[in-house]
Amino acid sequence: MKTKLKITTIFAFAISACVFFTTQGNTQTKTETAGQRFKSIKVLNDIPADQMGKIMNMMSASLGVNCAFCHASNDGDYEKEGFEHKDIARQMLKMTFDLNKNYFENRPEINCNSCHQGKAHPQSSIPLMPVAQEPRAVQPEKKPTVDEILAKYETALGGKANLAKVTSREIKAQRVEPDGKTFEAEEILQKGSKTSVTTVYPSKQYGDYTVREVFDGSTAAKFGNGAKIELKTDETEQIKREAQIFANADLKAVYAKMEFRFVDKIDGREVYVLTASTADNARERLYFDVQTGLLVRRIASTPTVLGAFQFQVDYTEHKDFGGVKLPTVIKFAVPNIRWTRKVFDVKINVSIDDEKFKK
Ligand code: HEC
Ligand code: HEC
Repeated sequence: MKTKLKITTIFAFAISACVFFTTQGNTQTKTETAGQRFKSIKVLNDIPADQMGKIMNMMSASLGVNCAFCHASNDGDYEKEGFEHKDIARQMLKMTFDLNKNYFENRPEINCNSCHQGKAHPQSSIPLMPVAQEPRAVQPEKKPTVDEILAKYETALGGKANLAKVTSREIKAQRVEPDGKTFEAEEILQKGSKTSVTTVYPSKQYGDYTVREVFDGSTAAKFGNGAKIELKTDETEQIKREAQIFANADLKAVYAKMEFRFVDKIDGREVYVLTASTADNARERLYFDVQTGLLVRRIASTPTVLGAFQFQVDYTEHKDFGGVKLPTVIKFAVPNIRWTRKVFDVKINVSIDDEKFKK
């Protein structure tokens, strides 16, 4: 049972990815379409094949269902036909695209979640009692500058001097799946800007499956039991970004442009919301706790035909390791897939062989 869940999760994530066109300067290169790659496509023919996984996960999350809700055989034969919900979903896709085309100048304003809000059956009854709404966060009279927010962040992490003293880390963690029961062992190695994350998925039936993500200081790669896993642009980007920003106060070296937007709230706490974009125009949002100064959330989004596919990371329960604060509970979420990293041991300034970061 556990293994089955895990394999589905891996598959769901593996097919979940990526961008429409790879833009380089003004030249656009067309990529393989879903109609070309998949066997039984009637509506999504022209979307990039790499978006299929994202679309499937977004539809599942919008309806609050799993893949089997529409692919009722649940045997991995996703091209099989004869399932009522799959047919309705095709009609719904057509309706959604028509709404965007006819009323929103083809912008993906409406998606499944606009109506479904996490339920298979959208709620049509209008609330008769006022729905309690949290008051919006009070906006500061004088907007904080990006420099002020980053300076506070550096101090919150432990200060320049302490940050400079930590040159490497060996971190032991557990990856906790959403069922709360399945744990996988994780080892995170850090040396300067180099990072490697190794996760072991135990399976009695198939033997351990070891996933390794490496960032060598410039580019990222991923391996499954030693064999290279092909990554989509946004997947490489996420591995790279997590490595780049972990306990790093110098976010100006990571993002080409940062801008303060407004004050919001996360779980009742006030946060500064910043938009940040990299030199190659990946757009993200960064959330800094107004009181502690710490980075508490990062959201990256990749455009799809059903709107933004979001990748969210929450950094919580910071603790001090050698004068530098690290989040010890890190929550990852994309539509339909969630997992948590729980850090339980951190060794600093240990010697780590450069081999460990080899791709
Ligand atoms: C709300 C219904 C719905 C849910 C939930 C759903 N799918 Fe689909 N899926 C579809 C529809 C509809 C198609 C066919 C789209 C078309 O005809 O353009 C499809 C097609 C596919 C295909 C292409 C199969 C082929 O070769 O033709 C794959 C793969 C797939 N889905 C995987 C998944 C996975 C994995 C999940 C769970 C993360 C999932 N789907 C959840 C409705 C759904
Ligand atoms: C404009 C609102 C709206 C949008 C957008 C929308 N739906 Fe629906 N959907 C509905 C309504 C209303 C129903 C319920 C109809 C009924 O009760 O018979 C429904 C029903 C469904 C059902 C049948 C559920 C069941 O249990 O029988 C599926 C599957 C579904 N929608 C999938 C989707 C998918 C996938 C998307 C996005 C591609 C989507 N819907 C977008 C309004 C919407």
